[in-house]
Amino acid sequence: MMQPRWTDESAQEYLRGIIRIVNGQSRYQRPLARELIGKAFGRGVTEIWDMTCGLGVDAWTLCRLGYRVRSFERNPFLFDCLLKAKQEADNDPSWRPISARWTITLGDSFFYLAQETTPPEACYLDPMFVFTKNPTALPKKEMQALRFLLRHDEGNHFSVEEKLSQALDRVQKRVVLKWHRHLPGLKRSPNQIIDGNRIMFLIFFP
Ligand SMILES: C[S@@+](CC[C@H](N)C(=O)[O-])C[C@H]1O[C@@H](n2cnc3c(N)ncnc32)[C@H](O)[C@@H]1O
Repeated sequence: MMQPRWTDESAQEYLRGIIRIVNGQSRYQRPLARELIGKAFGRGVTEIWDMTCGLGVDAWTLCRLGYRVRSFERNPFLFDCLLKAKQEADNDPSWRPISARWTITLGDSFFYLAQETTPPEACYLDPMFVFTKNPTALPKKEMQALRFLLRHDEGNHFSVEEKLSQALDRVQKRVVLKWHRHLPGLKRSPNQIIDGNRIMFLIFFP
């Protein structure tokens, strides 16, 4: 398979086209019964800080599952797309009850976490993964575009261990980390694992 030759313009155009909730792509409307992310947060949590919003797919799924979600995205272009997608949902009576549970903030989530006087019940971390099991295998098109767009963003090459420990220092009940089967283990063992075929959710208690 040929890798598309991304430019900033083509990556932005592609991502602008897919970050659409109303009349958008199926990734925002997947059947909830198959979503393992809900199992990872469980019933003891009502409010989640989504520390790495990206395309907002996981955030929207969590809102559909009934959680209140505060998302953070540090990239201004993605933030604008997310805000527009949310505004469209806010203006649509069938989606408004769900979008009312979602707020999106531009900036570094860990900066906000450090400042917050009432720490969140739960944090969700979905870092950008830079390596795959088969280095020649291409990631999905949206991840290619996202990686290209964020290629100069040093902040994305954060240490997962470090951010996990920062989140655990502040969170009240749990941190959920999206992990891939082929990625190496972490120094800290998770308290629970929700295991999908390819994706796992690692759950850590403070
Ligand atoms: C892999 S994507 C997340 C995908 C997301 N879970 C979804 O469902 O679309 C990671 C995103 O987190 C953002 N990000 C990374 N570190 C961040 C931070 N400290 N604060 C806010 N956003 C961050 C990146 O800009 C990127 O868009």
